[in-house]
Amino acid sequence: MGWLGSAYPWVKAFHIIFVIFWMAGLFMLPRYFIYHQETARESEEWDRWVIRERRIIRIILNPAIVMAWLLGLALAWNVGAGSQLWFRWKLVPVLLLACYHWWLIHYAAALARGEEPLKGKTMRFLNEVPGLAAICIVILAVVRPG
Ligand code: HEM
Repeated sequence: MGWLGSAYPWVKAFHIIFVIFWMAGLFMLPRYFIYHQETARESEEWDRWVIRERRIIRIILNPAIVMAWLLGLALAWNVGAGSQLWFRWKLVPVLLLACYHWWLIHYAAALARGEEPLKGKTMRFLNEVPGLAAICIVILAVVRPG
């Protein structure tokens, strides 16, 4: 059970719960950007999207990434995952997701300034990133190849 003792299964359960919230935010926010960019700039509807995006970031995305990491690192320390290959490989797509998270927050700030850095079509393509990363991560975390 490691130093977490009887809390270990609870920590793992909440790790997965916050991962689900994090993924939900990573899927929702680019969708909002696409609809946002279809509205007229400097319109009331444009400003309403800015508020909606800020809410997703503050209420879902940022708390979820912090809790997913904190509980994940507690698990890693508890099971000695640092020396295990599956966990080292898992960190690659997880760090990619963290960079994508950071990029989305900067993109929301650009939209709030009235800029449209990317076309809706490109944003739809980029919205596949978290899905592909999640497939790799869950296979590494559950199957633990190698
Ligand atoms: C954010 C940084 C993350 C860290 C440090 C981390 C760390 C860990 C560790 C150490 C375990 C193994 C616990 C054990 O052996 O009992 C684990 C389990 C798990 N992680 Fe993560 N993880 C992270 C993010 C994610 C993400 C983004 C996903 C999915 C998209 C994910 C999905 C899972 C799943 C499904 C399990 C349970 C595997 C099982 O026991 O069968 N993790 N995580």
